[in-house]
Amino acid sequence: MDKKWWMESIGYQIYPKSFFDSNDDGIGDLNGIYQKLEYLKDLGVNLIWICPFYDSPMDDNGYDVRNFFDVAKEFGTMDDVNKLIEKAHQLGIKVILDFVLNHTSDEHPWFIESRSSVDNPYRDYYIWHEGRQKDGQKIEPTNWGSFFGGSCWKYDEPTDSYYMKIFSDKMPDLNWKNEKVHDEMIQIAKKWLDKGIDGFRIDAVSHLDRAEYEDVKGSTDRYPLDWHKFSNLPKVHDYLKKLNQEVFSKYDCLTIGEVGGAASIDQGIKYASFDRDELSMVFNFDHNWCNNLHEVTSTKQLKTNVVLLKSVFNKWQESFKDIGWLPLNWLNHDQPRLMSQYGDYKFPKASGKMLATALHMMRGTPFIYQGEEIGMTNFPFEDVSQFNDISSVGTYRYHLEKEPDDPVKALKKAALRSRDNPRTPMQWSNDIYAGFSTEKPWMMVNPNYKTINVEKNLKDQDSLWYHYQRLIDLRKNSKYRDVIIYGEYQLLDPDDQNLYTYKRILKDQTLLIINSFSRKKLKYDLSSYEMINKVISNYQKQSIKNQTIYLKPYESIVFEVKEKL
Ligand code: NOJ
Repeated sequence: MDKKWWMESIGYQIYPKSFFDSNDDGIGDLNGIYQKLEYLKDLGVNLIWICPFYDSPMDDNGYDVRNFFDVAKEFGTMDDVNKLIEKAHQLGIKVILDFVLNHTSDEHPWFIESRSSVDNPYRDYYIWHEGRQKDGQKIEPTNWGSFFGGSCWKYDEPTDSYYMKIFSDKMPDLNWKNEKVHDEMIQIAKKWLDKGIDGFRIDAVSHLDRAEYEDVKGSTDRYPLDWHKFSNLPKVHDYLKKLNQEVFSKYDCLTIGEVGGAASIDQGIKYASFDRDELSMVFNFDHNWCNNLHEVTSTKQLKTNVVLLKSVFNKWQESFKDIGWLPLNWLNHDQPRLMSQYGDYKFPKASGKMLATALHMMRGTPFIYQGEEIGMTNFPFEDVSQFNDISSVGTYRYHLEKEPDDPVKALKKAALRSRDNPRTPMQWSNDIYAGFSTEKPWMMVNPNYKTINVEKNLKDQDSLWYHYQRLIDLRKNSKYRDVIIYGEYQLLDPDDQNLYTYKRILKDQTLLIINSFSRKKLKYDLSSYEMINKVISNYQKQSIKNQTIYLKPYESIVFEVKEKL
Protein backbone atom coordinates (compact mmCIF):
# COMPACT_ATOMS: atom_id res chain seq x y z
CA MET A 1 0.00 0.00 0.00
CA ASP A 2 1.33 3.43 -0.94
CA LYS A 3 1.05 5.83 1.96
CA LYS A 4 -0.74 9.08 1.11
CA TRP A 5 -1.00 12.41 2.92
CA TRP A 6 -4.74 12.00 3.27
CA MET A 7 -4.38 8.75 5.18
CA GLU A 8 -2.52 10.71 7.85
CA SER A 9 -4.88 13.68 7.93
CA ILE A 10 -7.61 14.68 10.34
CA GLY A 11 -10.54 16.28 8.60
CA TYR A 12 -13.17 18.77 9.66
CA GLN A 13 -16.35 19.46 7.72
CA ILE A 14 -17.63 23.02 7.42
CA TYR A 15 -21.16 23.98 6.42
CA PRO A 16 -20.37 27.61 5.50
CA LYS A 17 -23.83 29.01 6.00
CA SER A 18 -23.79 28.02 9.67
CA PHE A 19 -20.14 28.23 10.66
CA PHE A 20 -19.31 31.88 11.36
CA ASP A 21 -20.77 35.15 10.10
CA SER A 22 -18.04 37.75 9.59
CA ASN A 23 -20.15 40.57 8.12
CA ASP A 24 -23.19 40.48 10.37
CA ASP A 25 -25.85 39.62 7.84
CA GLY A 26 -26.93 36.51 9.73
CA ILE A 27 -25.32 34.15 7.19
CA GLY A 28 -22.02 32.35 7.68
CA ASP A 29 -19.40 33.16 5.04
CA LEU A 30 -15.93 32.49 3.67
CA ASN A 31 -14.31 35.22 5.73
CA GLY A 32 -15.93 33.63 8.75
CA ILE A 33 -14.09 30.40 7.96
CA TYR A 34 -10.91 32.41 7.37
CA GLN A 35 -11.23 33.99 10.81
CA LYS A 36 -11.67 30.62 12.48
CA LEU A 37 -8.75 28.84 10.84
CA GLU A 38 -6.57 29.30 13.92
CA TYR A 39 -9.35 27.73 15.98
CA LEU A 40 -9.20 24.68 13.72
CA LYS A 41 -5.42 24.63 13.85
CA ASP A 42 -5.60 24.63 17.67
CA LEU A 43 -7.97 21.72 17.58
CA GLY A 44 -5.36 19.99 15.45
CA VAL A 45 -7.23 19.32 12.21
CA ASN A 46 -5.18 19.59 9.03
CA LEU A 47 -7.80 19.08 6.36
CA ILE A 48 -11.09 20.91 5.85
CA TRP A 49 -13.98 19.96 3.62
CA ILE A 50 -16.08 23.02 2.79
CA CYS A 51 -19.66 22.43 1.60
CA PRO A 52 -20.74 24.35 -1.54
CA PHE A 53 -20.32 28.11 -1.54
CA TYR A 54 -20.81 28.49 -5.30
CA ASP A 55 -23.28 30.88 -6.86
CA SER A 56 -26.70 29.35 -6.28
CA PRO A 57 -30.36 30.27 -5.78
CA MET A 58 -30.05 28.18 -2.56
CA ASP A 59 -33.00 25.88 -3.10
CA ASP A 60 -30.87 23.20 -1.43
CA ASN A 61 -28.47 25.53 0.38
CA GLY A 62 -25.91 25.56 -2.39
CA TYR A 63 -26.06 22.00 -3.74
CA ASP A 64 -28.07 23.58 -6.55
CA VAL A 65 -25.19 25.25 -8.37
CA ARG A 66 -25.84 28.11 -10.78
CA ASN A 67 -22.19 28.71 -11.60
CA PHE A 68 -19.45 26.24 -10.61
CA PHE A 69 -16.79 28.88 -10.79
CA ASP A 70 -18.38 31.80 -9.05
CA VAL A 71 -19.07 32.47 -5.37
CA ALA A 72 -22.55 33.07 -3.92
CA LYS A 73 -22.61 36.71 -2.87
CA GLU A 74 -23.82 35.88 0.64
CA PHE A 75 -20.65 33.82 1.11
CA GLY A 76 -18.14 36.33 -0.30
CA THR A 77 -15.98 36.63 -3.40
CA MET A 78 -13.36 34.67 -5.31
CA ASP A 79 -10.75 36.81 -3.54
CA ASP A 80 -12.06 35.49 -0.25
CA VAL A 81 -11.64 31.95 -1.56
CA ASN A 82 -8.06 32.68 -2.58
CA LYS A 83 -7.27 34.22 0.80
CA LEU A 84 -8.83 31.29 2.59
CA ILE A 85 -6.89 28.67 0.64
CA GLU A 86 -3.66 30.58 1.10
CA LYS A 87 -4.01 31.02 4.84
CA ALA A 88 -5.18 27.43 5.36
CA HIS A 89 -2.10 26.19 3.52
CA GLN A 90 0.15 28.47 5.57
CA LEU A 91 -1.31 26.86 8.68
CA GLY A 92 -0.75 23.38 7.29
CA ILE A 93 -4.44 22.78 6.58
CA LYS A 94 -5.43 21.20 3.26
CA VAL A 95 -8.70 22.22 1.65
CA ILE A 96 -11.20 20.09 -0.24
CA LEU A 97 -14.40 21.38 -1.82
CA ASP A 98 -17.72 19.85 -2.67
CA PHE A 99 -18.06 18.93 -6.34
CA VAL A 100 -21.62 18.42 -7.54
CA LEU A 101 -21.67 16.17 -10.60
CA ASN A 102 -25.20 14.85 -10.68
CA HIS A 103 -27.18 18.03 -11.21
CA THR A 104 -27.13 21.80 -11.49
CA SER A 105 -29.59 24.48 -10.52
CA ASP A 106 -32.43 25.07 -12.98
CA GLU A 107 -30.98 28.59 -13.12
CA HIS A 108 -27.66 27.36 -14.50
CA PRO A 109 -27.12 28.79 -18.02
CA TRP A 110 -26.87 25.24 -19.44
CA PHE A 111 -30.35 24.43 -18.21
CA ILE A 112 -31.81 27.73 -19.33
CA GLU A 113 -30.56 26.86 -22.82
CA SER A 114 -31.54 23.22 -22.54
CA ARG A 115 -35.17 23.86 -21.70
CA SER A 116 -35.58 26.54 -24.38
CA SER A 117 -36.03 24.22 -27.38
CA VAL A 118 -35.55 20.58 -28.37
CA ASP A 119 -32.82 21.43 -30.84
CA ASN A 120 -30.80 23.70 -28.59
CA PRO A 121 -27.12 22.58 -28.42
CA TYR A 122 -27.49 22.19 -24.63
CA ARG A 123 -30.64 20.06 -24.87
CA ASP A 124 -28.74 16.84 -24.19
CA TYR A 125 -26.92 18.20 -21.18
CA TYR A 126 -29.98 17.12 -19.18
CA ILE A 127 -32.31 14.12 -19.19
CA TRP A 128 -35.51 14.85 -21.11
CA HIS A 129 -38.41 12.53 -21.87
CA GLU A 130 -41.88 12.68 -23.33
CA GLY A 131 -44.81 12.15 -20.96
CA ARG A 132 -47.17 9.15 -21.14
CA GLN A 133 -50.89 9.11 -21.63
CA LYS A 134 -53.03 7.56 -18.91
CA ASP A 135 -56.84 7.83 -18.79
CA GLY A 136 -56.70 10.71 -21.23
CA GLN A 137 -54.15 12.62 -19.16
CA LYS A 138 -50.48 13.27 -19.58
CA ILE A 139 -48.39 11.74 -16.80
CA GLU A 140 -44.70 11.33 -16.00
CA PRO A 141 -42.56 8.95 -18.11
CA THR A 142 -42.17 6.64 -15.07
CA ASN A 143 -43.60 6.52 -11.56
CA TRP A 144 -40.16 6.89 -9.91
CA GLY A 145 -40.07 8.88 -6.69
CA SER A 146 -37.37 11.43 -5.87
CA PHE A 147 -35.23 11.68 -2.73
CA PHE A 148 -36.97 14.86 -1.61
CA GLY A 149 -40.49 13.53 -2.16
CA GLY A 150 -42.83 13.54 -5.15
CA SER A 151 -41.95 12.48 -8.66
CA CYS A 152 -38.49 12.20 -10.16
CA TRP A 153 -39.76 14.04 -13.23
CA LYS A 154 -40.85 17.61 -13.66
CA TYR A 155 -43.06 18.78 -16.49
CA ASP A 156 -41.62 21.70 -18.44
CA GLU A 157 -43.98 23.72 -20.57
CA PRO A 158 -41.72 25.32 -23.21
CA THR A 159 -40.99 21.96 -24.86
CA ASP A 160 -43.96 20.04 -23.47
CA SER A 161 -41.72 17.37 -21.96
CA TYR A 162 -40.31 16.19 -18.62
CA TYR A 163 -36.83 16.53 -17.17
CA MET A 164 -35.41 14.18 -14.58
CA LYS A 165 -34.51 15.44 -11.12
CA ILE A 166 -33.87 12.95 -8.37
CA PHE A 167 -33.59 15.72 -5.75
CA SER A 168 -35.67 18.93 -5.98
CA ASP A 169 -37.58 20.43 -8.92
CA LYS A 170 -34.92 23.12 -9.08
CA MET A 171 -32.10 20.58 -9.45
CA PRO A 172 -32.29 19.02 -12.92
CA ASP A 173 -30.05 15.97 -13.38
CA LEU A 174 -27.18 16.18 -15.82
CA ASN A 175 -27.04 13.67 -18.64
CA TRP A 176 -23.78 11.77 -18.22
CA LYS A 177 -24.43 9.85 -21.42
CA ASN A 178 -23.41 13.07 -23.13
CA GLU A 179 -19.63 13.34 -23.36
CA LYS A 180 -19.84 17.11 -23.50
CA VAL A 181 -20.97 17.00 -19.87
CA HIS A 182 -17.80 15.04 -19.02
CA ASP A 183 -15.67 17.66 -20.72
CA GLU A 184 -17.36 20.49 -18.86
CA MET A 185 -16.88 18.77 -15.51
CA ILE A 186 -13.27 17.91 -16.27
CA GLN A 187 -12.58 21.58 -17.00
CA ILE A 188 -14.26 22.68 -13.77
CA ALA A 189 -12.29 20.18 -11.68
CA LYS A 190 -9.02 21.22 -13.30
CA LYS A 191 -9.70 24.90 -12.74
CA TRP A 192 -10.26 24.36 -9.02
CA LEU A 193 -7.27 22.07 -8.62
CA ASP A 194 -5.08 24.54 -10.50
CA LYS A 195 -6.21 27.17 -8.04
CA GLY A 196 -4.56 25.07 -5.38
CA ILE A 197 -7.29 23.11 -3.64
CA ASP A 198 -6.38 19.64 -2.45
CA GLY A 199 -9.30 17.60 -3.68
CA PHE A 200 -13.02 17.08 -3.67
CA ARG A 201 -15.85 15.52 -1.75
CA ILE A 202 -17.96 14.39 -4.67
CA ASP A 203 -21.66 14.80 -4.12
CA ALA A 204 -24.20 12.08 -4.92
CA VAL A 205 -21.60 10.31 -7.00
CA SER A 206 -23.40 7.00 -7.24
CA HIS A 207 -26.31 8.46 -9.19
CA LEU A 208 -24.72 9.37 -12.51
CA ASP A 209 -26.46 6.64 -14.50
CA ARG A 210 -30.10 5.60 -14.89
CA ALA A 211 -31.82 2.23 -15.34
CA GLU A 212 -34.29 1.46 -18.14
CA TYR A 213 -37.40 3.57 -17.83
CA GLU A 214 -39.77 1.00 -16.35
CA ASP A 215 -42.20 1.67 -13.52
CA VAL A 216 -41.38 0.60 -9.97
CA LYS A 217 -43.79 -2.25 -9.20
CA GLY A 218 -45.43 -3.44 -6.00
CA SER A 219 -45.77 -0.18 -4.06
CA THR A 220 -48.90 1.64 -3.02
CA ASP A 221 -47.06 4.99 -3.11
CA ARG A 222 -47.87 7.16 -6.09
CA TYR A 223 -44.16 7.85 -6.62
CA PRO A 224 -42.22 5.05 -4.92
CA LEU A 225 -38.60 5.84 -4.16
CA ASP A 226 -36.51 2.97 -5.52
CA TRP A 227 -32.97 4.27 -5.64
CA HIS A 228 -31.78 1.19 -7.54
CA LYS A 229 -33.18 2.90 -10.60
CA PHE A 230 -30.50 5.55 -10.35
CA SER A 231 -27.75 4.27 -8.07
CA ASN A 232 -24.52 2.34 -8.58
CA LEU A 233 -25.23 1.39 -12.17
CA PRO A 234 -22.25 0.17 -14.21
CA LYS A 235 -21.68 3.28 -16.30
CA VAL A 236 -20.91 5.35 -13.18
CA HIS A 237 -17.60 3.54 -12.95
CA ASP A 238 -16.71 4.38 -16.54
CA TYR A 239 -17.35 8.04 -15.83
CA LEU A 240 -15.25 8.01 -12.67
CA LYS A 241 -12.40 6.20 -14.37
CA LYS A 242 -12.41 8.88 -17.03
CA LEU A 243 -12.39 11.69 -14.45
CA ASN A 244 -9.61 9.92 -12.62
CA GLN A 245 -7.53 9.44 -15.74
CA GLU A 246 -8.01 12.92 -17.09
CA VAL A 247 -7.93 14.95 -13.88
CA PHE A 248 -7.57 13.35 -10.45
CA SER A 249 -4.52 11.20 -11.24
CA LYS A 250 -2.69 14.27 -12.52
CA TYR A 251 -2.78 15.97 -9.11
CA ASP A 252 -1.83 14.75 -5.66
CA CYS A 253 -5.43 15.15 -4.62
CA LEU A 254 -7.98 13.47 -2.39
CA THR A 255 -11.37 12.44 -3.79
CA ILE A 256 -14.13 11.18 -1.52
CA GLY A 257 -17.35 10.10 -3.12
CA GLU A 258 -20.65 10.27 -1.33
CA VAL A 259 -22.24 6.92 -2.00
CA GLY A 260 -24.85 7.13 0.72
CA GLY A 261 -26.83 4.19 1.92
CA ALA A 262 -27.45 3.10 -1.60
CA ALA A 263 -24.10 1.35 -1.86
CA SER A 264 -23.27 -2.02 -0.40
CA ILE A 265 -19.74 -2.79 0.69
CA ASP A 266 -19.06 -4.58 -2.58
CA GLN A 267 -20.12 -1.49 -4.43
CA GLY A 268 -18.06 0.70 -2.11
CA ILE A 269 -15.02 -1.38 -2.99
CA LYS A 270 -15.68 -0.84 -6.68
CA TYR A 271 -15.55 2.91 -6.21
CA ALA A 272 -12.57 3.16 -3.95
CA SER A 273 -10.29 0.15 -3.69
CA PHE A 274 -6.67 1.00 -4.45
CA ASP A 275 -6.62 -0.90 -7.73
CA ARG A 276 -9.76 0.66 -9.23
CA ASP A 277 -8.39 4.06 -10.21
CA GLU A 278 -11.64 5.81 -9.41
CA LEU A 279 -11.85 7.55 -6.00
CA SER A 280 -9.62 7.72 -2.91
CA MET A 281 -12.45 6.85 -0.52
CA VAL A 282 -16.23 6.73 -0.15
CA PHE A 283 -18.50 8.09 2.56
CA ASN A 284 -21.19 5.56 3.48
CA PHE A 285 -23.94 6.06 6.05
CA ASP A 286 -24.69 2.55 7.25
CA HIS A 287 -23.71 3.47 10.81
CA ASN A 288 -26.08 6.46 10.77
CA TRP A 289 -29.13 4.27 10.55
CA CYS A 290 -28.59 1.72 13.30
CA ASN A 291 -31.22 3.22 15.58
CA ASN A 292 -34.00 2.88 13.06
CA LEU A 293 -34.73 6.59 13.32
CA HIS A 294 -37.41 6.46 10.63
CA GLU A 295 -39.68 4.75 13.10
CA VAL A 296 -38.84 6.59 16.31
CA THR A 297 -41.41 9.07 17.57
CA SER A 298 -40.51 9.23 21.23
CA THR A 299 -38.30 11.98 22.58
CA LYS A 300 -36.94 9.65 25.26
CA GLN A 301 -33.35 8.48 25.26
CA LEU A 302 -32.72 6.25 22.24
CA LYS A 303 -31.41 2.77 22.94
CA THR A 304 -28.49 2.09 20.65
CA ASN A 305 -28.31 -1.30 19.02
CA VAL A 306 -24.64 -1.74 19.86
CA VAL A 307 -24.34 -5.16 18.24
CA LEU A 308 -25.64 -3.81 14.96
CA LEU A 309 -23.53 -0.67 15.13
CA LYS A 310 -20.36 -2.72 15.71
CA SER A 311 -21.18 -5.14 12.95
CA VAL A 312 -21.62 -2.26 10.51
CA PHE A 313 -18.31 -0.62 11.42
CA ASN A 314 -16.63 -3.99 11.44
CA LYS A 315 -17.84 -4.99 8.00
CA TRP A 316 -16.45 -1.82 6.42
CA GLN A 317 -13.19 -2.01 8.38
CA GLU A 318 -12.70 -5.68 7.48
CA SER A 319 -13.61 -5.32 3.84
CA PHE A 320 -11.28 -2.41 3.23
CA LYS A 321 -8.48 -3.88 5.33
CA ASP A 322 -5.75 -4.38 2.75
CA ILE A 323 -7.42 -3.04 -0.34
CA GLY A 324 -8.62 0.46 0.42
CA TRP A 325 -9.03 3.34 2.82
CA LEU A 326 -12.09 4.74 4.62
CA PRO A 327 -13.17 8.08 5.98
CA LEU A 328 -14.32 7.87 9.62
CA ASN A 329 -17.23 10.14 10.42
CA TRP A 330 -20.15 10.00 12.79
CA LEU A 331 -22.28 12.51 10.92
CA ASN A 332 -22.42 15.23 8.30
CA HIS A 333 -24.73 18.06 7.31
CA ASP A 334 -27.50 15.59 6.34
CA GLN A 335 -27.54 13.49 9.51
CA PRO A 336 -28.88 13.97 13.04
CA ARG A 337 -26.46 15.32 15.63
CA LEU A 338 -24.28 12.60 17.16
CA MET A 339 -25.21 13.44 20.76
CA SER A 340 -28.91 13.15 19.95
CA GLN A 341 -28.58 9.80 18.30
CA TYR A 342 -25.85 7.83 20.03
CA GLY A 343 -25.01 10.06 22.99
CA ASP A 344 -26.76 10.17 26.36
CA TYR A 345 -28.23 13.47 27.54
CA LYS A 346 -27.70 12.41 31.17
CA PHE A 347 -24.00 11.76 30.61
CA PRO A 348 -23.10 14.18 27.82
CA LYS A 349 -19.42 14.52 28.61
CA ALA A 350 -18.69 10.85 29.21
CA SER A 351 -20.80 9.59 26.30
CA GLY A 352 -19.50 12.28 23.93
CA LYS A 353 -15.89 11.43 24.71
CA MET A 354 -16.57 7.73 24.43
CA LEU A 355 -18.11 8.15 20.97
CA ALA A 356 -15.16 10.24 19.84
CA THR A 357 -12.66 7.63 21.02
CA ALA A 358 -14.63 4.75 19.52
CA LEU A 359 -14.39 6.33 16.08
CA HIS A 360 -10.99 8.00 16.17
CA MET A 361 -9.17 4.83 17.14
CA MET A 362 -10.29 3.00 13.98
CA ARG A 363 -8.33 2.69 10.75
CA GLY A 364 -9.18 5.52 8.36
CA THR A 365 -9.24 9.31 8.10
CA PRO A 366 -11.43 10.95 10.77
CA PHE A 367 -13.78 13.77 9.80
CA ILE A 368 -15.29 15.90 12.57
CA TYR A 369 -18.49 17.72 11.66
CA GLN A 370 -18.64 21.32 12.92
CA GLY A 371 -19.96 21.48 16.46
CA GLU A 372 -19.40 17.78 17.11
CA GLU A 373 -16.29 18.74 19.10
CA ILE A 374 -18.44 20.64 21.61
CA GLY A 375 -21.31 18.16 21.71
CA MET A 376 -23.99 20.12 19.84
CA THR A 377 -27.41 18.46 19.76
CA ASN A 378 -30.54 18.27 17.60
CA PHE A 379 -32.94 21.23 17.55
CA PRO A 380 -36.15 20.90 19.62
CA PHE A 381 -38.60 21.39 16.73
CA GLU A 382 -42.14 22.27 17.77
CA ASP A 383 -43.72 23.20 14.50
CA VAL A 384 -43.32 22.33 10.84
CA SER A 385 -42.86 26.01 10.01
CA GLN A 386 -39.47 25.79 11.75
CA PHE A 387 -38.08 23.52 9.04
CA ASN A 388 -35.81 25.24 6.56
CA ASP A 389 -34.62 22.14 4.75
CA ILE A 390 -36.62 21.22 1.68
CA SER A 391 -36.38 17.47 2.33
CA SER A 392 -37.59 17.78 5.95
CA VAL A 393 -40.76 19.42 4.68
CA GLY A 394 -41.09 16.57 2.15
CA THR A 395 -40.70 13.96 4.90
CA TYR A 396 -43.31 15.69 7.06
CA ARG A 397 -45.80 15.75 4.19
CA TYR A 398 -45.12 12.11 3.42
CA HIS A 399 -45.91 11.03 7.00
CA LEU A 400 -48.95 13.28 7.17
CA GLU A 401 -50.33 11.78 3.98
CA LYS A 402 -50.03 8.33 5.57
CA GLU A 403 -51.69 9.39 8.85
CA PRO A 404 -53.59 12.64 8.19
CA ASP A 405 -55.04 12.75 11.72
CA ASP A 406 -51.70 12.74 13.47
CA PRO A 407 -49.66 15.85 12.57
CA VAL A 408 -47.78 15.63 15.87
CA LYS A 409 -46.44 12.21 14.99
CA ALA A 410 -45.56 13.39 11.47
CA LEU A 411 -43.61 16.27 12.98
CA LYS A 412 -41.73 14.01 15.41
CA LYS A 413 -40.82 11.57 12.67
CA ALA A 414 -39.56 14.34 10.42
CA ALA A 415 -37.81 16.21 13.26
CA LEU A 416 -35.53 13.48 14.49
CA ARG A 417 -33.98 12.89 11.08
CA SER A 418 -34.30 16.47 9.86
CA ARG A 419 -31.26 17.77 8.04
CA ASP A 420 -31.83 21.07 9.83
CA ASN A 421 -30.47 19.53 13.04
CA PRO A 422 -26.82 19.67 12.03
CA ARG A 423 -27.30 23.01 10.27
CA THR A 424 -28.19 25.27 13.19
CA PRO A 425 -25.54 27.95 13.73
CA MET A 426 -22.28 26.92 15.32
CA GLN A 427 -22.35 27.74 19.03
CA TRP A 428 -19.25 29.83 19.66
CA SER A 429 -20.19 31.48 22.97
CA ASN A 430 -23.10 32.40 25.20
CA ASP A 431 -23.42 35.83 23.55
CA ILE A 432 -26.49 36.69 21.54
CA TYR A 433 -27.05 34.23 18.67
CA ALA A 434 -24.40 32.00 20.20
CA GLY A 435 -21.64 34.33 19.00
CA PHE A 436 -22.30 33.16 15.43
CA SER A 437 -23.53 36.58 14.31
CA THR A 438 -24.75 39.81 15.84
CA GLU A 439 -27.76 39.76 13.51
CA LYS A 440 -30.64 37.31 13.55
CA PRO A 441 -29.22 34.19 11.82
CA TRP A 442 -30.80 32.63 8.73
CA MET A 443 -31.55 29.57 10.85
CA MET A 444 -32.64 29.25 14.46
CA VAL A 445 -29.95 28.92 17.10
CA ASN A 446 -30.32 25.91 19.35
CA PRO A 447 -31.60 27.27 22.69
CA ASN A 448 -29.01 25.22 24.57
CA TYR A 449 -26.16 27.48 23.36
CA LYS A 450 -25.68 28.99 26.80
CA THR A 451 -24.45 25.66 28.12
CA ILE A 452 -23.04 24.13 24.95
CA ASN A 453 -20.56 26.44 23.26
CA VAL A 454 -16.92 26.69 22.23
CA GLU A 455 -15.97 29.35 24.78
CA LYS A 456 -17.18 27.22 27.67
CA ASN A 457 -15.42 24.15 26.32
CA LEU A 458 -12.15 26.01 26.00
CA LYS A 459 -12.28 27.12 29.63
CA ASP A 460 -12.55 23.57 30.91
CA GLN A 461 -9.50 21.35 30.42
CA ASP A 462 -11.73 18.34 30.96
CA SER A 463 -14.18 19.28 28.19
CA LEU A 464 -15.19 17.29 25.15
CA TRP A 465 -13.22 19.74 22.97
CA TYR A 466 -9.95 18.92 24.73
CA HIS A 467 -10.71 15.23 24.40
CA TYR A 468 -10.97 15.66 20.61
CA GLN A 469 -7.74 17.66 20.68
CA ARG A 470 -6.00 14.84 22.59
CA LEU A 471 -7.29 12.19 20.19
CA ILE A 472 -6.02 14.22 17.25
CA ASP A 473 -2.67 14.79 18.91
CA LEU A 474 -2.28 11.06 19.55
CA ARG A 475 -2.91 10.35 15.87
CA LYS A 476 -0.52 13.04 14.72
CA ASN A 477 2.30 13.28 17.18
CA SER A 478 2.50 10.41 19.63
CA LYS A 479 4.44 7.16 19.67
CA TYR A 480 1.12 5.49 18.83
CA ARG A 481 0.77 7.45 15.60
CA ASP A 482 1.56 4.57 13.26
CA VAL A 483 -0.51 1.95 15.00
CA ILE A 484 -3.48 4.35 15.12
CA ILE A 485 -3.17 5.25 11.45
CA TYR A 486 -2.02 2.01 9.87
CA GLY A 487 -2.52 -0.74 12.44
CA GLU A 488 -4.74 -3.74 11.78
CA TYR A 489 -8.26 -3.48 13.23
CA GLN A 490 -9.68 -6.51 15.07
CA LEU A 491 -13.15 -6.51 16.59
CA LEU A 492 -13.55 -8.21 19.98
CA ASP A 493 -16.77 -9.36 21.67
CA PRO A 494 -19.09 -8.89 18.64
CA ASP A 495 -22.14 -10.08 20.59
CA ASP A 496 -21.74 -7.93 23.68
CA GLN A 497 -24.76 -5.63 23.81
CA ASN A 498 -23.09 -2.82 25.75
CA LEU A 499 -19.41 -2.77 24.96
CA TYR A 500 -17.61 -1.90 21.76
CA THR A 501 -14.12 -3.32 22.13
CA TYR A 502 -11.45 -3.74 19.49
CA LYS A 503 -7.72 -3.96 19.02
CA ARG A 504 -5.31 -2.17 16.74
CA ILE A 505 -2.08 -3.98 16.00
CA LEU A 506 1.09 -2.92 14.23
CA LYS A 507 4.34 -4.86 14.54
CA ASP A 508 4.98 -5.20 18.28
CA GLN A 509 2.45 -2.56 19.33
CA THR A 510 -1.10 -3.44 20.34
CA LEU A 511 -3.83 -1.08 21.50
CA LEU A 512 -6.90 -2.34 23.30
CA ILE A 513 -9.89 -0.01 22.93
CA ILE A 514 -12.80 -0.42 25.34
CA ASN A 515 -15.98 1.65 24.99
CA SER A 516 -19.06 1.28 27.13
CA PHE A 517 -22.36 2.30 25.54
CA SER A 518 -24.18 1.86 28.85
CA ARG A 519 -25.35 3.95 31.80
CA LYS A 520 -24.82 0.88 33.94
CA LYS A 521 -21.60 -0.15 35.63
CA LEU A 522 -20.02 -3.02 33.74
CA LYS A 523 -16.93 -5.15 34.04
CA TYR A 524 -14.43 -6.34 31.49
CA ASP A 525 -11.90 -9.10 31.86
CA LEU A 526 -8.32 -8.04 31.20
CA SER A 527 -6.66 -11.28 32.23
CA SER A 528 -5.36 -12.09 28.76
CA TYR A 529 -3.38 -8.86 28.59
CA GLU A 530 -0.32 -7.47 30.20
CA MET A 531 -1.01 -3.76 30.66
CA ILE A 532 1.73 -1.49 29.43
CA ASN A 533 0.28 1.99 29.31
CA LYS A 534 -2.92 3.99 29.48
CA VAL A 535 -3.20 5.89 26.19
CA ILE A 536 -6.39 7.93 26.64
CA SER A 537 -9.53 7.72 28.77
CA ASN A 538 -12.66 9.71 29.56
CA TYR A 539 -12.43 9.23 33.36
CA GLN A 540 -9.30 10.16 35.19
CA LYS A 541 -9.12 7.09 37.39
CA GLN A 542 -9.89 3.54 36.46
CA SER A 543 -10.99 0.86 38.82
CA ILE A 544 -9.05 -2.31 38.09
CA LYS A 545 -9.02 -5.24 40.50
CA ASN A 546 -7.90 -8.79 39.93
CA GLN A 547 -7.39 -8.20 36.25
CA THR A 548 -10.92 -6.93 35.80
CA ILE A 549 -11.80 -3.37 34.91
CA TYR A 550 -14.97 -1.99 36.52
CA LEU A 551 -16.36 0.43 33.99
CA LYS A 552 -18.31 3.55 34.93
CA PRO A 553 -21.20 4.83 32.73
CA TYR A 554 -19.93 5.31 29.17
CA GLU A 555 -16.37 4.73 30.26
CA SER A 556 -13.92 4.59 27.40
CA ILE A 557 -10.30 3.68 27.68
CA VAL A 558 -7.42 2.81 25.41
CA PHE A 559 -4.55 0.71 26.77
CA GLU A 560 -1.32 -0.27 25.21
CA VAL A 561 -1.12 -3.98 25.98
CA LYS A 562 0.82 -7.14 25.32
CA GLU A 563 -1.14 -10.30 24.80
CA LYS A 564 -0.26 -13.00 27.31
CA LEU A 565 0.76 -16.19 25.64
C1 NOJ B 1 -25.96 15.05 -0.89
C2 NOJ B 1 -25.71 16.27 -0.06
O1 NOJ B 1 -24.98 15.89 1.08
C3 NOJ B 1 -27.06 16.84 0.30
O2 NOJ B 1 -26.98 17.85 1.25
C4 NOJ B 1 -27.72 17.33 -0.99
O3 NOJ B 1 -29.03 17.74 -0.70
C5 NOJ B 1 -27.78 16.21 -2.02
N1 NOJ B 1 -26.57 15.45 -2.12
C6 NOJ B 1 -28.07 16.78 -3.38
O4 NOJ B 1 -26.99 17.53 -3.83
